[in-house]
Amino acid sequence: MSILSEKKILLGVSGSVAAYKAASLASKLVQAGARVTTMLTPSAEKFIAPLTFQSITGARAYTQTDLWGQEAHILHVQLGREADAMLIAPCTAHTLASLAQGRADTLLSLAALTLTAPLLLAPAMDAGMYEHPAVQENLRTLAARGAYLLGPAEGRLASGLRGKGRMLEPEDIVGHLRRVLGMQFGALRGRKIVVTAGGTQEPIDPVRVLTNRSSGKQGYALAQAALDAGAAVTLITAPTCLAPPIGAEVIRVQTVEEMLRATLHAAADADALLMAAAGADFRPKNAAPTKLKKRDGIPQIPLEAAPDILKTVSSQKSKSGFPRVLVGFAAETQNLLENAAEKLASKHLDFIAANDVSAPDSGFGSETNRITLLFPNGKKEPLPLMNKFDAAEIILRRVAELLEPFPS
Ligand code: CTP
Repeated sequence: MSILSEKKILLGVSGSVAAYKAASLASKLVQAGARVTTMLTPSAEKFIAPLTFQSITGARAYTQTDLWGQEAHILHVQLGREADAMLIAPCTAHTLASLAQGRADTLLSLAALTLTAPLLLAPAMDAGMYEHPAVQENLRTLAARGAYLLGPAEGRLASGLRGKGRMLEPEDIVGHLRRVLGMQFGALRGRKIVVTAGGTQEPIDPVRVLTNRSSGKQGYALAQAALDAGAAVTLITAPTCLAPPIGAEVIRVQTVEEMLRATLHAAADADALLMAAAGADFRPKNAAPTKLKKRDGIPQIPLEAAPDILKTVSSQKSKSGFPRVLVGFAAETQNLLENAAEKLASKHLDFIAANDVSAPDSGFGSETNRITLLFPNGKKEPLPLMNKFDAAEIILRRVAELLEPFPS
């Protein structure tokens, strides 16, 4: 269940070659559980058929002829009023101008006038057009009225020219929409949540590192779930192959030392720290300044203890009260609950998520986790096997409960 689940999204499509990407956008929204109603402008219909959207969304795709159809007298008002958000993608220079002027000549522009929910616009146009003062002025007008402007991106345009004007990719547009809906409906609106993710890398020499198998997936899922819940999110991440969720402030680090510094700073005014990263416990005492060569024989690499980030943050918390809620993760291969309970106590956590990483369907790299939450009062909450995003949502719900009521 994401923030998009059961949300009524009015998808406006205007006449740009990027309209073909709107079909993929509609598909992603439907897969995330949204109820998508599409509206095409007359010129959008020249690029893509309403049937494409009807087939993807399972709902009616409206066109300009519906403006004069039997339901016309209520249609434009009803669609605008019922929506949880209206997203126009692609949004052409012409549609921007219509919206900025408050024109009521297409079903799409009429619906935008009756809208009470957020309006998100993903402009798409050729190089030069986007920079034109008229377009820029329209964008400023719409932004001042509260519209969210998504992109456009720089890159190759349909004309073959390069420049600013490409519609954002569908997955990025979905990320922006989640962010906006989270800020409207989320239980963590106004909160600051810090999440750490990934396995730190401790240099052995300039080309080699000591690291671990953490993929970062659970941490990134936590960051997305916190954004969905409306929080301001700082994601402190060790190197991973993952794309960070849209809307998070991303701080990239490599070593446990860098993660410690970034986390202490970010957590100093945070409502919660979710420490999902696998920080190194041991690190090479001295990284070699130049590459270790085979001809010099097998190296001895003395290790030293790395700082424990959670312990350091919990001592900060005991003095300042921040972060208000401190959540740890226990990656274990044996004696799961005993080891996790010991970490819960020694690191003074508000709760810990214990995870058996030796199971093939739980832990590092897998898409799913089987987690048990442990609380200081001895309460245990075993969660069934579930995908990492669903686990993240439950963890965030417990954080929200601990943060109630909102401080004045
Ligand atoms: N952690 C940390 N700093 C480290 C290592 C771990 O803050 N240098 C955090 C992890 O992010 C996690 C929790 O401590 O939230 C538990 O991590 P885990 O690796 O399971 O336990 P350790 O405390 O490192 O103990 P051990 O490795 O002996 O199990």
